[in-house]
Amino acid sequence: MLRAALGRAATRKLLKSGRCFALRDFTVLAIETSADDTCAAVVTSDRQILSNVVVKQHVVHEEYGGIYPMAAIDQHQRNLPGAVQRALSDARLTMADIDGVAFTRGPGMGGPLSVGSNAAKTLAAANSKPLVGVHHMQAHALTPLLTTPPDSPLYPTFPFLTFLLSGGHSLLLLCSSPTHFRVLATTVDKSLGGAFDHVARRLGLRWGTHGPGAELEKFAASPLPPGAEAAVAEVGKPKIPMKGQLAFSFTAPYSFVELYVERAGGEDNLTEAERWALARAFQGAAVQQVEDKLLMALQQCKSEGIEVRNVVASGGVASNGYLRQRLEACAKAFDPSGAISTLYPPPELCTDNAVMIAWAALSRFLDGDTDAYSIDLRRTWHIEELSGEKPVDEKYWYHKSGQPQSVPKAEL
Ligand code: KG4
Ligand code: ZN
Repeated sequence: MLRAALGRAATRKLLKSGRCFALRDFTVLAIETSADDTCAAVVTSDRQILSNVVVKQHVVHEEYGGIYPMAAIDQHQRNLPGAVQRALSDARLTMADIDGVAFTRGPGMGGPLSVGSNAAKTLAAANSKPLVGVHHMQAHALTPLLTTPPDSPLYPTFPFLTFLLSGGHSLLLLCSSPTHFRVLATTVDKSLGGAFDHVARRLGLRWGTHGPGAELEKFAASPLPPGAEAAVAEVGKPKIPMKGQLAFSFTAPYSFVELYVERAGGEDNLTEAERWALARAFQGAAVQQVEDKLLMALQQCKSEGIEVRNVVASGGVASNGYLRQRLEACAKAFDPSGAISTLYPPPELCTDNAVMIAWAALSRFLDGDTDAYSIDLRRTWHIEELSGEKPVDEKYWYHKSGQPQSVPKAEL
């Protein structure tokens, strides 16, 4: 559908320009600063990623135990000019070659968002380029349409299901078109990535190069330590919360580990086998919830007559091999014919990046549906509003923290 939209729009642009034979692809410079990554990228309407710059801030925020907004603002201010400069030079382009500027309008942290938004608006205005402000979650959800070749049997067809599972997001969406989304499940407390990180820390695992979640996965998959069987019996299993409800709660499996460690008097008093059994019990219970919600969502779609053929999982946690294996088994169990395929965009485009922002903006640029240079930010912005069909109750607004939260209207 998106391909079709781009095709039509590109044709319209050809006709409007009156320069049918000299016309090149539409080239977008995009900026993303909704949380702790400073991102800039250049993408063209013929699906070429000419550059993808991501400047991480993990080291700065690690000492705060989470994203500290003032430090994130400082880092974005310091890193963004260089990131934009590199995105252009990696693409071997200058601003003169750019046809439009896109940026993340929301949802996200107000301060960090405003750094990227002001830069994008000023760049666009100073260079007389059109501007498009993008919904961050829509951009994540449309990524597989860029990363899967259109002639691949795996190319997602609407409607498809998307899990966004990271440190900031724990969402299950039904995507019916590039602008029609339904939030089927979100977390009522912690994000899945956040829970993985806390448990890894509580078990004394080192961060490693891929972060605490990946370390936990590796540790849980390591060979059985001596006394493993007894430890599994001793540790037990966390209760699965939110049974029968389309919602996640990741505090419960995390608290299960926390409580066991507290009772033991700290992680130093745990045996290797107990730490191993706790890691496996946590991962098993957390992934069980994801699996349960997929089954519920597939069942709900079926009962509403919605035929889902693809399940996409993205975000840092979607690189977890155990989770992938369980999702694939679940899709297969629901439809043994194998008609439902699972799909994972490459890790570098699953996590926050500006390529997805450029891609999500393209159809609007080509349709001439651009924003004013004075456009405001949307710190909270429910993805269902994009369809323009119905106002969403405040209590369901999605926030970058991964939790639904109400915000007084005056703050918008
Ligand atoms: O999408 P992401 O890279 O960044 C943001 O949240 O913005 O997600 C990071 C999260 C972290 O919580 C990290 O520990 C988790 O994804 N993660 C994993 C794995 N790899 C990364 N969690 C479980 N298993 C993994 N293999
Ligand atoms: Zn994100």
